[in-house]
Amino acid sequence: MKILVINGPNLNMLGKRDKEIYGDKTLAEIESSLKKQGKTLAIEVITFQSNSEGALIDFIQEQSNSADGIIINPGALTHYGFSLRDALADSGLPIIEVHLSNIYAREEWRAKSVIAPVAKGNISGLGWRGYIAALRTLVAELKGEDV
Ligand code: DQA
Repeated sequence: MKILVINGPNLNMLGKRDKEIYGDKTLAEIESSLKKQGKTLAIEVITFQSNSEGALIDFIQEQSNSADGIIINPGALTHYGFSLRDALADSGLPIIEVHLSNIYAREEWRAKSVIAPVAKGNISGLGWRGYIAALRTLVAELKGEDV
C-alpha cells in the first residue's frame, strides 16, 4: 500500500514560521515521523512539498495511478486552489485534508476550504499529530480493519 503525503505553499518553512500557530517541528521532522509510522503499518509513505500549484498537480497526476490514498495540507491553496481541487478529484483516490492550525478559529477567509468537498474528511487544529492520525485512519480504513 502506498500513501502520498503532500504539503503545499509555505509549509517548507515549518519550524521557522509562526511557531505559536504551526508548532516548532520542521516539515522534515514531520515527514520522518510519518515514514516511521508507515514502517510500523507496513506501508509506503511518499512525501512531497511544493510552493507551486502546478508542481503539486503534476505530482498528483504522475503518482496517483500507483497510490492508494492521499493526505494533503494544501496551505493557503485550501482557500482558493480550484485546479488543485480538480486534480485531487480526478485522482479518484480517498483524500484526507490536514491543517496544523484550527482553520475555523482564525480569520474568516480561512474557514472556507475549496478542497473539503472532494475530501473524505479533514483534521484541523491538532498540529503535526493530525498527519499521523490521518495516516493511521486512512490505512486502517483501506485495510478494512475493525479496530
Ligand atoms: C494551514 C492553514 C492555511 O490557512 C495556511 O494558509 C497554511 C497552513 C495549516 O496547516 O494550518 O499555510 O493549512
